[in-house]
Amino acid sequence: MYFNNPSPKARIYILTVVALCLLLFSTRSFLHVPKDDQGSTSLFSLPTLSNPSLKSTTKPPWLLITSSASDDFQRRLLVRWSWVSLFQRSGIFDHIFAVSSTDPVLLPLIKKENETFGDILLLDHIEDTAWTANHIKPFEFFKKVTTEGWKGRTYDFVSKVDQDSFVDPVRTWNKYLKGRMGLSGIKKDRVMMSMPHDEFCQCPAPQGGFYTLSWDFAKLIGRLYAKMEKPEDIEQEDCMAGRFPTDAGEQYEFVPMDTEESFDVVGEKGNAIARDWTKGQVQRGHLSNVSKAIFFHQMKEEWKWLAVKELFDEDGWVPNRSSRAQT
Ligand SMILES: *[C@@H]1O[C@H](CO)[C@@H](O)[C@H](O)[C@H]1NC(C)=O
Ligand SMILES: *[C@@H]1O[C@H](CO)[C@@H](O)[C@H](O)[C@H]1NC(C)=O
Ligand SMILES: *[C@@H]1O[C@H](CO)[C@@H](O)[C@H](O)[C@H]1NC(C)=O
Repeated sequence: MYFNNPSPKARIYILTVVALCLLLFSTRSFLHVPKDDQGSTSLFSLPTLSNPSLKSTTKPPWLLITSSASDDFQRRLLVRWSWVSLFQRSGIFDHIFAVSSTDPVLLPLIKKENETFGDILLLDHIEDTAWTANHIKPFEFFKKVTTEGWKGRTYDFVSKVDQDSFVDPVRTWNKYLKGRMGLSGIKKDRVMMSMPHDEFCQCPAPQGGFYTLSWDFAKLIGRLYAKMEKPEDIEQEDCMAGRFPTDAGEQYEFVPMDTEESFDVVGEKGNAIARDWTKGQVQRGHLSNVSKAIFFHQMKEEWKWLAVKELFDEDGWVPNRSSRAQT
């Protein structure tokens, strides 16, 4: 996910290519790209990013934040044009990227990207390294967003999503979060929802690829992080997300996702399979066979985004619908 330091020449070359791609793709998003009549195998024939009339009238209760590597402009495009644009019309969520960088060459490019998309939360006091990304960055962005808000707004729930995760927020919302909106106390304000990672972390802890917190709970975790006496001793992010409130004696409800809903995508192009991410590593068969999936992980290659995107439309899981239509 993180490049080893390329030579200065290679770096300038990479950045130039990226800037050109960005320009090209952003131009395409404003022109109306004609719909592909063949049933769209193209990722880029999706509807444009947002529907202004819908956006201005709804106040989504949920903010999803993809933690993204500073120089991975292309991955951010894949995320925007796959699950984000596919499900955004539901009106239940806003999506942004958290990017950290102190690199004087990258910073202006990231700001330029944000002028087009307006979806980047920048942490310009944190270097972008594998260590920061896996230890402190999520707490830094939870802290920042829950104290400053996003575009002046606060939300009911906030999620951290990895940049190699594809999620279905609509099913997640309907199954796990919607019903909590009418509740109060722990069941509303102190929720941690994820695949459980307890065995590894030895406390109720989330899987780092996708987890959701009540807004106020994320704020609390941000405060506990900021108060750490020995910040250098911080462990892996996913364990710390559980350890901060557990060690502080704070109560919360851990809402576990079902194992049938979460998969690593492995295998070959055209023959990808879903595998349990758990230590059991059970093969679940062909991608089209995991009809309860709401969270795909290990989405490192571009073809995986295309393959998984094809399983969904804005109403949900496509293979199910065709089988229902036939019966
Ligand atoms: C990105 O754009 C949004 C929307 O205009 C703005 O709220 C945010 O502060 C911008 N982020 C950066 C890093 O400029
Ligand atoms: C679909 O999944 C079931 C159980 O999870 C498995 O028994 C079956 O072999 C899978 N089929 C395919 C085509 O992968
Ligand atoms: C799709 O079908 C499978 C198998 O019948 C079922 O378990 C699953 O819940 C269905 N998914 C949806 C979204 O209806």
